[in-house]
Amino acid sequence: MNKENQLIQTLAVDIGGSGVKIMILDARGNPLTERSRLKTPQPPKPEAIIEAIVNLAEKQPDYQRVAVGFPGVVQQGITKTAVNLDRDWIGFDLAKTLSQRLGKPVQVANDADIQGFGAIEGRGVELVITLGTGFGSALFINGKLVPNLEMGHHPFRKGETYEEQLGRAALEKEGKKKWNNRLEKAIANLEHLFNYDTLYIGGGEAKNIEFKLPDNAKIVPNVAGLLGGIALWNQ
Ligand code: BGC
Repeated sequence: MNKENQLIQTLAVDIGGSGVKIMILDARGNPLTERSRLKTPQPPKPEAIIEAIVNLAEKQPDYQRVAVGFPGVVQQGITKTAVNLDRDWIGFDLAKTLSQRLGKPVQVANDADIQGFGAIEGRGVELVITLGTGFGSALFINGKLVPNLEMGHHPFRKGETYEEQLGRAALEKEGKKKWNNRLEKAIANLEHLFNYDTLYIGGGEAKNIEFKLPDNAKIVPNVAGLLGGIALWNQ
């Protein structure tokens, strides 16, 4: 890495259904600040969330570029789905709009993809699932992302999707015991489907896991959803 690049700092942003989080990363992706968080504005429309990011960013040290994780499908900086936010996000140019507000270049990717970049080793088949407001998923083959995997909205059991059975609303409604039983079943399913080498489980609700995970599954700290943002600028 040349001297000039070493000085580049990245503002990492993680837009979630319950919180908007940010952190400054150094050129290698190590944190330079503590994580700051604001509650996701309600209704979670684009303008309100962008306002929250701008507010958080103003209190940070200098940065030259921005990496954003978004809870939906993202293509070329445009948010295509936003099941847990607001319909106004569909077709919204988040990269361009935020870049204009912050005056810095912005890269945007799916939140589970970023979580994965912050967690994987880059060897073999690695699957990432995130347990938060929604159910996120990302698949990597030898470190390369398979884009747009949206397992959360795929049928899982009893006529419901993974997200309907395992999202935060289900956890709150059904309680931890049932949610844990369901998750154990989901992991068994996914192992048969993907035959992965490693499964990473991230997201704010992973802390509720109460059963012993298989040897090839591990919980990743939630901060990976910010740390992984550096990968958007390294590709
Ligand atoms: C979205 C995914 C996202 C996940 C976690 C799902 O509802 O469709 O794109 O990764 O929630 O936020």
